[in-house]
Amino acid sequence: MNEDVYVLGIETSCDETAAAVVKNGKKILSNVVASQMESHRRFGGVVPEIASRHHVEQITLVIEEAMRQSGVSFADLDAVAVTAGPGLVGALLVGVNAAKALAFAHGLPLIGVHHIAGHIYANQLVAEMKFPLLALVVSGGHTELVYMEGHETFAVIGETRDDAAGEAYDKVARALGLPYPGGPHIDRLAHEGEPVIDLPRAWLEEGSYDFSFSGLKSAVLNALHNAKQRGEEIDVRQMAASFQESVVDVLVTKTVQAAKEYRVRQVLLAGGVAANHGLRAALQDKMKKELPNVELIIPPLSLCTDNAAMIAAAGTVLYQQGKRADLALNANPSLPLV
Ligand code: KG4
Ligand code: ZN
Repeated sequence: MNEDVYVLGIETSCDETAAAVVKNGKKILSNVVASQMESHRRFGGVVPEIASRHHVEQITLVIEEAMRQSGVSFADLDAVAVTAGPGLVGALLVGVNAAKALAFAHGLPLIGVHHIAGHIYANQLVAEMKFPLLALVVSGGHTELVYMEGHETFAVIGETRDDAAGEAYDKVARALGLPYPGGPHIDRLAHEGEPVIDLPRAWLEEGSYDFSFSGLKSAVLNALHNAKQRGEEIDVRQMAASFQESVVDVLVTKTVQAAKEYRVRQVLLAGGVAANHGLRAALQDKMKKELPNVELIIPPLSLCTDNAAMIAAAGTVLYQQGKRADLALNANPSLPLV
């Protein structure tokens, strides 16, 4: 008979302090997220020192709350999983040290999790993962196409050469005078406008699954600058719609092309930009037409943005594979996925 596995997950890589308890890597018993967004908004982006300080203030409370809501005691836990990287080093250290202290105090195995693996495993909280699969990871810090033949085996077949998709959204939003983080605002305005402004799409070399968004971002900034010099007004809704169409077109086209070439059974969407309505709709639409037999999984919004349930889910698989970190585990701001 299989024993149930209970894992506490901890995530502090950027601007959310998060803890969660997950059963068998699939069932969320608690998922607590303390967002610092308000503190960073007036600076137009995440300030690392402020992020670290908030994590220190919040971490104990967030973990206690996650344990309380789960109804699971420390004695019932099987492991503590924590994001070891990539991310802001001062932010990561807070979670890693909290996890080490708990693992030591309660005699629990410690598991180090890669943040991107966490985003991908958020999907396992909504559906069974079927291999081979392709995951499109789009967040504030990452844009990656990841091919998986089995659990915890990752092959990055494409990635951004400059800005991450979310970063481009946030920078363009800032230029349009929208609050941080700008992704959701552009998404909303895009649906009120028409994509009539001609903007570039970086397809890169034939057959490449890499991305590039800095040229698109510059094109938007130039268009805004030129309009200002001519004393003309640019319609923010039209610009938002045109920018979004350009981003979504490239993301969806490359994802579907890669899914065909790699003959996957599933396509997963992950990361904060997976919340984008335009991206969700366009990917659903193109897959239905071109890959009707491939399953598309899109987690709910709360599991797309940073959270600790996804870290616990990814950590559970590592735990079941016998992978352990020791108390020398360190935060690694540029931890490689493979
Ligand atoms: O995954 P996430 O919470 O944090 C990172 O690991 O980076 O992603 C945050 C990013 C931000 O850039 C934010 O603007 C973007 O996700 N985002 C969106 C939407 N909601 C969040 N971008 C486009 N459309 C959205 N609806
Ligand atoms: Zn993230």
